[in-house]
Amino acid sequence: ETSLSIPQVPKQYLGLLGNLPDIDPSFAAKSFWRLQELYGDIYELDLLNRKVVIISNYDLISDVLDDNRYEKVVTGPLKELRPFVKDALFTAFPDEPNWHKAHRILMPVFGPLAVKKMLPQMLDVASQLILRWDRFGPNHRIACSDDFTRLAFDTIGLCAFGFRFNDFYSDNMHEFAIQMTDVLVEAGKRASRTHMETQLRYLAAQQFDTDIAAMHKLCDNIVDERIQDPQPDSNDLLNVMLNQKDPETGEKLSKENIRYQMATFLVAGHETTSGTLSFLFYHLLHNPETYHKAQQEVDEILGDDTLTINHIPKLKYIDACIKETLRFQSPITAVTRHAKTPTKIAGKYDIVPEKPIVVNLKGLHHDAKIWGDDHDQFKPERMLDFKKYPAGAWRPFGIGMRSCIGRAFAEQEMIINVALILQRFQVTMADPSYHMELKSTLTVKPKDFEIKVRRRPGKD
Ligand code: HEM
Repeated sequence: ETSLSIPQVPKQYLGLLGNLPDIDPSFAAKSFWRLQELYGDIYELDLLNRKVVIISNYDLISDVLDDNRYEKVVTGPLKELRPFVKDALFTAFPDEPNWHKAHRILMPVFGPLAVKKMLPQMLDVASQLILRWDRFGPNHRIACSDDFTRLAFDTIGLCAFGFRFNDFYSDNMHEFAIQMTDVLVEAGKRASRTHMETQLRYLAAQQFDTDIAAMHKLCDNIVDERIQDPQPDSNDLLNVMLNQKDPETGEKLSKENIRYQMATFLVAGHETTSGTLSFLFYHLLHNPETYHKAQQEVDEILGDDTLTINHIPKLKYIDACIKETLRFQSPITAVTRHAKTPTKIAGKYDIVPEKPIVVNLKGLHHDAKIWGDDHDQFKPERMLDFKKYPAGAWRPFGIGMRSCIGRAFAEQEMIINVALILQRFQVTMADPSYHMELKSTLTVKPKDFEIKVRRRPGKD
C-alpha cells in the first residue's frame, strides 16, 4: 500500500506567518489556483488558525465524494457566516439536528415537480427584467451582473416567501442585497485572518453585526406577517416551513430557524445564479457560433410563443450552455470536506479528520484527463452527451448529501431567462474589447461586464 505525505507549501517569514502571505484574503480561490500551478494537484497550507489540504484533480476528488468516509466541514468563510445563518441548511455542522429536520421538510418542495409549479412566479420576475431592458433601449450599457442579481434575488423572494424586493423598480438595489454583499465579503476576509485581527478591525466588525441584525429583522417581519395573514393557497416555501411537520420527529421548524433558512436561500441562490447567467452571456458573446445556435434553438422551439413548462426540456442546447458555463467557472469555487476517521485520499495520501480538504472545483472541471486538451475552450456541444463523463466529473452543485438543494430551482430559472432574453433581444458586448476579469465575494462572477440589447425585429 502506498503512503505518501502531502506536500506542504513552503512557509514564509521563518514560518511565523505560515502560508497567510500566499493567500489573497479578498480572493482566496485565485490563490489556490495559482498554488496548484506551482505545487501540483494536492498540497497543504498552514493558515495559522487551521491547516488545509487543497485537492485539484478528478482522481483525488472522486475519492472525497464518498459520504461514508468524508463529511462536510463548516470552516473558512462558511463558518464566518454562521452569525448570519446559524444552523440552516448551508452552514449546519453535519451532526446538527436542524440540518436533518430542515432537509426532510424542504427536499420535497425543491424537487423538480414542486419547482415546475413555481413557473408563474419565475416568469413574473423574468418579465420585469425584459421590460427593464426594453426600456433602456439599444444604446444603454447594462451592468448585467447587477441585473441578474436583481433577477435572482427577486425570484427567490417571490418563490420562497411571496415577498417582492422590487429590485427592478429602483436604481439602487434593495438594501438587503447590499447588506448581504457586505456580509459575504467580510466573511470571506475573516476566513484568511487571525481572530485577533478581526477583533481589531472594530468598524468592520460593527458593520457586520449591524447588517446582520437588519437582515434578520426583515426576515422576521415577513414571517410575522404571514402568521398574521396566512396565505393557504400559496405554494411558496414559507408556507411549507411554517406548517409542515418533520415526518421523523413530528416537529415543525422554529420561527428562528425559518429566519435562518430564508436568509440562506437568498445567500445560496442569488449570487450563484446571477454569476452563472453573467458568465453564460460572456461566453456566448465571445463564441458567436454558440450564440447563434442558442438563438436558433429558441426560435425553433419557442418562436413567438409564450414560454410554458413544456418548452423547457426541449431547450437542450441552452441546457448544455448552462452546464458548460458551470464547468468552465463554477460560481462556488470550492467545497470543503474532512475525513470522518483517519484514511487515505485516493488510497495514497494519509489524511486525518483535523485537516479540512478543500475540493478545488476548477481543478476538477479543467482536468485534461477527463475533459480533454480543449478544456480551456467553451464548447457546449460536449455537454449534449453529458452521460459520457464519469459521475463525479461535473460537480458545480457540490457533492453527496450536502449538495445543492436548489439545483432544480436554479436550472429552471436560468433556462427560462436565457430563452426569454434570446427570444426578445439581440445581445452584444457594450465594449467589444472587454476581457474577462473575475470578482469574488464568496462566489465569483465577471467583473464590470456590460452588455447592450436591441429588440429583434418583429419580436414584441
Ligand atoms: C448548497 C451551488 C443555486 C440553495 C450548494 C453547494 C453548491 C451549490 C456547490 C454545496 C456547498 C457545500 O458543499 O459547501 C449552487 C449553484 C447554484 C445554486 C452553482 C446556481 C447556479 C441555489 C439556489 C438555492 C440554493 C437557487 C435556493 C433557492 C442551496 C442550499 C445549500 C446549497 C440551501 C445547502 C444544502 C445542504 O447543505 O443541505 N449550492 N447553488 N442553491 N444550495 Fe446551491
